[in-house]
Parts: sequence; C-alpha cells; structure tokens
Amino acid sequence: MTTVTARIDDRPDNWWKTAVVYQVYPRSFSDSNGDGVGDIPGITQRLDYLHELGVDVIWLSPVYTSPQDDNGYDISNYQDIDPGFGTLADLDALISGLHERGMALVMDLVVNHTSDEHPWFEESRDPDSPKRDWYWWRPPRPGFQAGTPGAEPTNWESAFSGSAWQFDERSGEYYLHLFTRKQPDLNWENQEVRAAVFKMMRWWVARGVDGFRMDVINFISKPPELIDGVVPAGKRYAPAFELVANGPKMHDYLNEMYREVLVGQNLLTVGEMPGVSVDQARLYTDPARRELNMVFTFEHVGLDQVEGGTKFDLAELPLPVLKANLAHWQTGLAEVGWNSLYWNNHDQPRAVSRFGDDSEEHRVSSAKTLGTVLHLLKGTPYVYQGEELGMTNTYFTEIGQYRDVEALNYHADALSLGLEADAVLRSLSVKSRDNARTPMQWDDTSQAGFTAGLPWLTVNPNYGVINAVAAVADPGSVFHHYRELIALRHQNPAVVHGVFQLLLPEHEQVFAYTRTLEGTTLLVLANCSSSPVQVDTAALPNLTDALVLLATHRGAEGLSLAPWESRILQLA
Ligand code: GLC
Repeated sequence: MTTVTARIDDRPDNWWKTAVVYQVYPRSFSDSNGDGVGDIPGITQRLDYLHELGVDVIWLSPVYTSPQDDNGYDISNYQDIDPGFGTLADLDALISGLHERGMALVMDLVVNHTSDEHPWFEESRDPDSPKRDWYWWRPPRPGFQAGTPGAEPTNWESAFSGSAWQFDERSGEYYLHLFTRKQPDLNWENQEVRAAVFKMMRWWVARGVDGFRMDVINFISKPPELIDGVVPAGKRYAPAFELVANGPKMHDYLNEMYREVLVGQNLLTVGEMPGVSVDQARLYTDPARRELNMVFTFEHVGLDQVEGGTKFDLAELPLPVLKANLAHWQTGLAEVGWNSLYWNNHDQPRAVSRFGDDSEEHRVSSAKTLGTVLHLLKGTPYVYQGEELGMTNTYFTEIGQYRDVEALNYHADALSLGLEADAVLRSLSVKSRDNARTPMQWDDTSQAGFTAGLPWLTVNPNYGVINAVAAVADPGSVFHHYRELIALRHQNPAVVHGVFQLLLPEHEQVFAYTRTLEGTTLLVLANCSSSPVQVDTAALPNLTDALVLLATHRGAEGLSLAPWESRILQLA
C-alpha cells in the first residue's frame, strides 16, 4: 500500500481564503486504462499540469462505490472506491501526489441520500429492521390505493422528473427520493444516521483528505410535516426544493458535524445549497457559528430562466441583472461569512458558452474576461475542468447523444407533457449537464488524448483547436490568463481581502468594480459584450498613472474597450 503524506498541518488558519479550487469530474478527466472512463491514476498523472496552472485544491466529484445511476452521486459504499475509478491505494497515491506539491484534496460528500444499493437502504426495506427509520418511509395518501397514481404521500416532483416517491411492494409504503429513485433520502432526524455519517467523515479525515464539498447539504433537514406543494400549470407534480431546503434543524446538524468531525482540523468546507439566500448564507458561513466555510449559491445560475420556470428555460440575461446579483452576494457577505465564486461545474453549461461568446472570434477573449471578472471578486474561486482552456458546450442535436439521467428524464417527461420535440432538444443543447461532462481535451490526438479507448460520452469535436497542449504552448491562451489570475490572488492581499464596490451598475456592456485594502485600490474594467465600448471617465476613479496588472489585450490604455476586453488596474 502507498504511504500517504500526512496532511499539511502547518497551513495557516483560513488558508482556504487565498486558495483557488479546481474541480475534477473524474469520469471525464483522464483515462489511464483505456476503458473509456476517467480514473484516479489518470488524475494523478496530470498533477503537474494542475500545479503549473497554480491551483491549490482539487475538489474531486464522487469516486466511491456506486451503481452510477447519477454518475457517482448515488453511493453504495462511502468507504471504498468504485472499481471503475480505481482503488483506495490509488486515492492514497493521489493524496500523496497533491500533498507533495503543496496542494490539497477536497472530497465530495453526498449524504442527503445514498444509493438504493447501499446496505443501509437494503436493510431499511424491511419494515421490521432497526434501519427502517434511516430513510423517509411513508404510507400512501389516505383514501388512495397504494401504487396507483395520486397515492404518493405528497405531490412532490423529484429533481430529475416524476414523483419524488417510489412505491415499495414489500411493505406497501413509499420512500422519498428528491433525486432519482435510486437515490433514497437519508433521515437525518435519526441520531444513528448522523453518527454513522460523522464516523465515516472522520475516517476520511484520518486518511488525509483536506476538506469536503457537501452535496445538496441544505436538504438534510426536512420540514416536520411533509405537505403538498403547488403544481405549476401544465405539470403533474410540485417542485419540492423550496419546501425542503433550509429546514428547521439545518444549523443544529451542521453545528453537530462541526463538533463531531471538523473542529481543530483546519479543513475546507463548502456546502452546495440550492435555494439559499444571502441572509441564510451569512448564518451558514459565520465563523462564530461553527458551521461551514462557504456555500454555493444558485442565484446567478438561475438568472437565465423564466421566473418560476425551470432550468431548461432559455431566457436572456441582461448584464445589469447579473452584476446586481453578484454584487448583492459580495456586499451581503462582506463583513461576516465568505463567498464561493463559480461560473460553471458538472451540473451547469460551459461558462464561455453561457455567459461569454463561444464563436471563433470571441471565445478566447470572452473566456479570459469571464475569468477576470470572477477571480477578482472576494471569495474562493472554483475552476471547473476545461474552463481554463475555454472549453465550450458540445451542442448535441439528438437525444441518443446524451447520457445524463436528468437530460433523458426531462426529454421523456417534456414530450409526454406535449412540449415540442425541437424546442426540448434546443433547451437540452444549451442547458444540459452533459455539456460540461464531455471529456477533457488534452491534445489533438484521437479522442483528445482523454482515452486510448472509446469515451463514455462523445468528445467535443473542437478538440483540434481547444486542447491543453496547445494552450500551454501559447502565451496568449486562456490557460495562461487563468494562471496569472491565480498567481495574482496569491500575491496580492487586496484580491483576497479588499472591500468590493460595484461601479456603473446600469451599464449594459461594462462590468466594473474596485477592491480596496489599506490604501491599495484595484480596478476591474471589463467589456462583457461582443461589441466595442467607450467607457465614460466621469464614472470611474482617477486613472492617471494607474498600473496595468493584467489585461486581455495588448496596449491596454485609453477608455475604449474592444469586444470582451478586460483589464485589472492598480490605481496610483
Ligand atoms: C448535486 C450534484 C448533482 C447531483 C445531485 C444529486 O446537485 O452536484 O450532480 O445530481 O446533487 O446528488
């Protein structure tokens, strides 16, 4: 067995405030054995690349034993590695490789639910088992015959279409699954469940991991009574998220987790929290309350959908709306709490395709400018694999090309509700999670150098142009821009701690703000549009003798900005 290098114990407190995190989606990152699926040895082979980029932390999406119904977010054994990804020894080697380079590993912690193939759930299926209460079992709705339409205990919809309740013949009862029917929700009300989760977490901490990204963690406390929601017009079920998010015991459970697992460990903790408000986030991340370091908000990635609609809506997103939302979170967590900063991840479309312009003409500039705008905010930035190359959406045109359970279920459900087939495919091509999950583009050889075999999801055909080898060799690439942004954060305390102030809030093209710390003021000036723009000097601080720290275009001076041009200036 490989020996794991001990966790880096001399890390300063709050080390995660200066860190940049890189998310690895293991299935799509690097395949070392030619089976078409990425694996842990594949990641370990790529550590020098990540070290050159300069990131401090890898957040690894789940690699635990799993039937892979939701690509590993359905876990059947929390303390082992799925054979498709490798072994515990491979994970130990990855941890060592990271620690040797001064980097850290954050594991994905998926404890709102398990797989239905987890032994806990298999036991729980027996109504007489002591584990019956570990999950949410409920009888059918009174007056309905079990297993018939309408008999579900509530009218909730699962995140991936259909009822959130699955009927189980054996006991005549239903179990709750907010995600697929193979992802039953754990009952955190039960103290034994919490104790089992905390014990498992301690086991990982002892193994050397440096933190946890906690999957949909604000769903673990359900309301005391499970009640029906409102069914939107044209739908069969009611969205459940708003009814279950941020339940009454959330703070108790997180505080208990802190006491039982996290205290004194100096880890990075980030909670994924759909439906969290900035006021709630301030409570979750107030250090004095001992809960989490930071949370992922969903607000800015919900702005391009219709109010009250679904993620598959295709709505315009005016820049002032986006700026107002990001600024709201900056100011809301300015004094207490901490932001996490992201444009995309394995659940979202590619940043450059969604918020930038992925045409040949503007892809590189817009990817760089999105990086600038995000990395100069206050908080911990997250880079999703391939974002540093400006990887784009893949724009599938046929349902047969998709692999994601969410996409496949949405397609079937939308067609059965009478939506037009072309419109459904168009929504998927823009918003589906598979856009982010196409294999990492390493070079211009077959399958983008991702695998020697056939990849589990088709490689984006643009890999001849967009790939890591080409980007590392080109000083003008998105990769080197990200490298410089990351280095700037490490060198300049104003990037980490400076006070944020938004300028030109109503401007439709320009994103401008300052960060100020003890006499140092940085100005970010970014044209977030595909047309040139002339900035009005009267609206900006005095730029005389300002120093350009980083710019997307050469000869960055004057106040006319080319399409997607951005600059970071240090004011005199
Ligand atoms: C989170 C994950 C997502 C997964 C879901 C259920 O949102 O990021 O990929 O499908 O939780 O675990």
